[in-house]
Amino acid sequence: MSLPPVIAIDGPTASGKGTVASLVADSLGFHYLDSGALYRLVALASEIQGIDVKNGPELGLIASKLLILFKNNQIFLDGKDVTEAIRTESIGLRASTLAVHPEVRAALVDLQHSFRQSPGLVADGRDMASVIFPDAVLKVFLTATASARAERRYKQLIAKGISAKLSDLLQDLQERDARDSSRGAAPLVIADGAKVLETSDLSIDQAVSLVLDWYQSATA
Ligand code: C5P
Repeated sequence: MSLPPVIAIDGPTASGKGTVASLVADSLGFHYLDSGALYRLVALASEIQGIDVKNGPELGLIASKLLILFKNNQIFLDGKDVTEAIRTESIGLRASTLAVHPEVRAALVDLQHSFRQSPGLVADGRDMASVIFPDAVLKVFLTATASARAERRYKQLIAKGISAKLSDLLQDLQERDARDSSRGAAPLVIADGAKVLETSDLSIDQAVSLVLDWYQSATA
């Protein structure tokens, strides 16, 4: 029996891939995997337990024992609602630092595969197409210029009433890009066969329509 289809959407920080991926999933009635949330959960859990971000083996252990639940739009860790707590800039930076450890990445593979359920899955992250779902029916590399991404992040934070400085956000995301692209384990790459979607000048709706068109062509 063949496995349910996967649409893999990878890209750098704040490229809008999460928004596009979840809208594509809604439109097709597919499941959605936000793999970055898993790395953020390891970041939060390990911070609470006081584990050093350099300790790969201990972090891998934490990743393998995560007690998590995705329910509607909420995320629970050990029964506690951490939906907002994992979205801070500091947890994002911590996640990107510990994501370099092969022990952490390996510990999250089965969990990510478990999201592949009928009728299909849209998965977003850095290594969805290259490592986790290499047989994805459609592979998209969604990106935008660093300044467009920093501006989007800035607007999101301000809309939430969180104060932010555009220049700090730009520097943070450039550091994260560099770390995600240069690490040895599952670096951010444009996977073989991936279609590049440059969204700097596109609306969310335009990006979603393009992905849906590509999916129709890929499965025609
Ligand atoms: O996508 P998001 O910003 O939530 O991811 C947080 C961090 O987790 C990223 O900066 C990246 O280093 C890491 N990550 C990863 N592989 C994935 C998803 C996220 O290494 N598939």
